[in-house]
Amino acid sequence: AAPVAPGRYEVTQRVARVEILPGLRTEVWGYGGTFPGPTFELRRGAPATVRVRNELPVPTSTHLHGGVTPSDSDGYPTDLVIPAGGHAGGHAGHAARMTHPGEVHHEGARDYHYPVGQRAATLWYHDHRMDYTAPAVWQGLAGFALVRDEEEDALPLPAGERELPLMICDRSFGEDGSFLYPRNHEGHDAAYMAGVEGDVILVNGAPWPVAEVTATRYRLRLLNACNARRLNLRLAPGGRFTQVGSDDGLLAAPLEHDALPMSPSERYDVVVDFSAYPVGSTVTLVNTLVDGAAGNVMRFVVARRAKDDSVVPKRLSRPPERPAPVATRSFDFRRTDSGWTVNGRLYRPGDLLARPRLGTAEVWRLTSDFHHPVHVHLAHFQVLARNGREPAPTDAGWKDTVDVRPYEVVDVLARFEGYRGRYMLHCHNLEHEDMAMMADFEVI
Ligand code: C2O
Ligand code: CU
Ligand code: CU
Repeated sequence: AAPVAPGRYEVTQRVARVEILPGLRTEVWGYGGTFPGPTFELRRGAPATVRVRNELPVPTSTHLHGGVTPSDSDGYPTDLVIPAGGHAGGHAGHAARMTHPGEVHHEGARDYHYPVGQRAATLWYHDHRMDYTAPAVWQGLAGFALVRDEEEDALPLPAGERELPLMICDRSFGEDGSFLYPRNHEGHDAAYMAGVEGDVILVNGAPWPVAEVTATRYRLRLLNACNARRLNLRLAPGGRFTQVGSDDGLLAAPLEHDALPMSPSERYDVVVDFSAYPVGSTVTLVNTLVDGAAGNVMRFVVARRAKDDSVVPKRLSRPPERPAPVATRSFDFRRTDSGWTVNGRLYRPGDLLARPRLGTAEVWRLTSDFHHPVHVHLAHFQVLARNGREPAPTDAGWKDTVDVRPYEVVDVLARFEGYRGRYMLHCHNLEHEDMAMMADFEVI
């Protein structure tokens, strides 16, 4: 997105009809009327104010995922932008809604303030409204926000046309091309309980796209923006990903991976060298968790040779060190008789489960009964251990989401830096999130 003035952006959330499947129109709810929304280019040290106008039929709350953001601009689920000229009450059929205690209403538009004091990273933004995040994101309310900084500028990584942010998500479609979301149709069935998956994979809003590439290195910023689907990405007929960054910034040194497991909202910043493939060949990005054609994500056609000045240096950055933890806390993500809970509780806004101190670090022990991608706002963390053992090589770096697998015990070291105030942690399976698998904490 281009600034409307230095550090000022404006984006209108609106209904648009776009062509996703050939010859059909899909109604999307888009930031700027597009799906995905515009990519925001942010710079460390250059604060940004984003005015979000809401012309949708439903209230919204916008969250910058991975952002180190003051609490009042963090997109709290009851901090709502009410549609312009609309009303705060129910919208029959689409979005019947209750009012939650402490709900804040901004009429038509509001400004979000982002200080952008954080390191270069691949962030994204999406809707975060109470009880309604999953259908709103499914309908299109998500986009990239890239933070750049001088440390990254100095690196000879592939750039310009050779840097591709790739938002991967799944959707289902009706015969007329509309997005199909089960809540609109069947109610809370078993598929809904596990999280909604679609049978069509989209990359940047397009099904089975082709990217024409030169036989050079490319930087791919991969995001799993699915509501609930986990991915395990590989290159076919073969090849490796050179990881240069994780959710929240560059690694100290690159890592080589054959496969990238990605739970919803995780990002990998990787370099792929297409000079390793014959000119004229097709390289396919596949999701190995699904068999056959349904596992195809996108294609790269290696069109021709070209000069390549890019390098992946042995030293990439100086990420923050791991501080010594001052406390240990446990968060259990589990389905109980009352629903999807954190430490046995269904989410209630304002119900604080922890009060970490600003400037400290804590070990958070995450346990679960199922696959839960656990996401923490504000704090960035490193995975210390899975079941008491070394984490996977793909767990490296500062992150904000970790896939906690069934009956796993995952220890993370979280740094509470930036701002005091109320933040949240939650399952990023968006249906679980809407079914109250969230908790508040307050940085004091
Ligand atoms: Cu990506 Cu609390 O969210
Ligand atoms: Cu977040
Ligand atoms: Cu979950």
